[in-house]
Amino acid sequence: MEVSPSSSSSGVPLILILCLSSFFLPPVICRGGESLPLFRSGSLNGSYSVNTRRILKDDVEAKDTLAKGYMTNSDLEHAVKAFGRRCGNISRIYSIGKSFNGVPLWVIEISDNPGKEEAKPAFKFVGNVHGDEPVGRELLIILANWICDNYVRDPLAKFIVENVHLHILPTMNPDGFSLRKRGNANNIDLNRDFPDQFFSVNNVISARQPETRAIMKWLKEVRFTASASLHGGALVANYPWDGTEDKRKHYYACPDDETFRFLASTYSHFHYNMSSSKEFPEGITNGASWYPIYGGMQDYNYIHAGCLELTLEISDDKWPAASELPTLWEYNKMSMLHLAASVAKRGIHGRIYSSNNGGPLPGAISINGINYTVEAGKAFADYHRLLAPDNKYEVLAFMHGYKPKNTTVFLEGGAMSLDFVLDPETGSLRETKVKGWCDCNCNAGIQGVELTGFAWWTQSQLYFLVVVVTIFILIFLGRRFSFLKYRQLGSPKRTMVMA
Ligand SMILES: *[C@@H]1O[C@H](CO)[C@@H](O)[C@H](O)[C@H]1NC(C)=O
Ligand SMILES: *[C@@H]1O[C@H](CO)[C@@H](O)[C@H](O)[C@H]1NC(C)=O
Ligand SMILES: *[C@@H]1O[C@H](CO)[C@@H](O)[C@H](O)[C@H]1NC(C)=O
Ligand SMILES: *[C@@H]1O[C@H](CO)[C@@H](O)[C@H](O)[C@H]1NC(C)=O
Ligand SMILES: *[C@@H]1O[C@H](CO)[C@@H](O)[C@H](O)[C@H]1NC(C)=O
Ligand SMILES: [Zn+2]
Repeated sequence: MEVSPSSSSSGVPLILILCLSSFFLPPVICRGGESLPLFRSGSLNGSYSVNTRRILKDDVEAKDTLAKGYMTNSDLEHAVKAFGRRCGNISRIYSIGKSFNGVPLWVIEISDNPGKEEAKPAFKFVGNVHGDEPVGRELLIILANWICDNYVRDPLAKFIVENVHLHILPTMNPDGFSLRKRGNANNIDLNRDFPDQFFSVNNVISARQPETRAIMKWLKEVRFTASASLHGGALVANYPWDGTEDKRKHYYACPDDETFRFLASTYSHFHYNMSSSKEFPEGITNGASWYPIYGGMQDYNYIHAGCLELTLEISDDKWPAASELPTLWEYNKMSMLHLAASVAKRGIHGRIYSSNNGGPLPGAISINGINYTVEAGKAFADYHRLLAPDNKYEVLAFMHGYKPKNTTVFLEGGAMSLDFVLDPETGSLRETKVKGWCDCNCNAGIQGVELTGFAWWTQSQLYFLVVVVTIFILIFLGRRFSFLKYRQLGSPKRTMVMA
């Protein structure tokens, strides 16, 4: 898999330029772009040099010609702001920081309640991580505008606006783009600049690039459920792990391997022809089995931000002629929409409450057999746990100071709603199962409700407790229904409360 597969349709001068550039350059591909030729050229078992943040060469002149028809950084800024003005009631424009040369890193957030914290999942797209892979930044601007133009009548666009907070960063590397090169203005490959789980390539914080720092800060501020970064140079949906512990190239599954294969397949199957790839079965690949990288953004998101990130290679040609952009948009459009929607259309979602006062408990969720924790939100204690469909899962909710609770569910194709009510840790209390509540709740429309764990000390307190509990349940059900009303998930689903 080498660089610049020549584009057959773009005329002789372009082919010449591309051929010349690939002649003089070491093989550089997008996600990886290992500058040492030995690594990508056949004998792929060689151990990996982890010290590869700095980029050695770039072909600036060739790309100047190609930039014709692409937005400049100031065009892009205008496009973002124009979008904000035109689609102000479903969007918010903000910046997560500045590039090394001081260009703001603009983000478009799309939602019917932009900027407001809600019990909804968030998804992000990040484009132009590598300066010389500009297709993503163009497609993301088209995507935002397409959603704005169509969300009133298109069901998928409407679903995204109503159920997802979609954050779009069209360019993470504006300096690299204007310099027509892969790295940032400091010549650092931003997709090697994140802290790594195996090798401290660059764990000197002061050496971290401003673009990387901005992303890391962003991940602390917004709780993303999933995301994708957009690259060029191949056609495949890449998922973690990107690096291996032994530095060798082989399949290296992360705890959520099944989930990631499902997400990556969602992208490739809705794509025009990604899934018919000959090189990558189904158009997806484990990062490390393709070639290991260290300090990448994808693994960092999964490990440190609870965010399931894919690395999408969306065009064999890193920098195709601008006239091909509308076609590339058509090829990727349904994939982008379905992937963003999947954070609400798939998986298990719900909230965690305290049995004490019915208040939200910002605990966490884990799945038996998957060594990974998904945190619930601070404000609403909502959690969003993506999982591969058609599977049985044992879901555990826990929170410091409360007794954990678990239940086994069968997740079908759509999203499932599952709330938990946790009891405080009070070692000496005797647990009693209260029968009879179930019928009452089932009549109210919830199936599979089971209430356990109400405790009391003496008979004399029973009456008082029953009254309190009844009031609590009424309040609680009231909240649940108002919550469910606006969260219409994609497909029929069971609603359960683990109380
Ligand atoms: C790995 O590379 C070394 C030297 O380059 C070679 O001797 C060895 O046979 C290779 N191993 C595999 C599994 O290809
Ligand atoms: C935004 O404004 C448009 C046009 O005024 C309107 O059709 C649409 O319903 C509004 N959307 C929301 C979410 O308020
Ligand atoms: C996908 O289609 C494009 C344009 O027709 C073509 O260049 C590319 O080789 C195709 N890729 C696959 C994997 O079929
Ligand atoms: C689970 O993952 C953590 C790192 O997140 C690791 O330290 C721990 O050893 C893993 N546990 C198991 C049982 O694999
Ligand atoms: C989960 O449920 C099983 C059986 O229902 C139980 O044996 C187990 O202790 C539970 N685990 C936790 C952590 O609560
Ligand atoms: Zn790339």
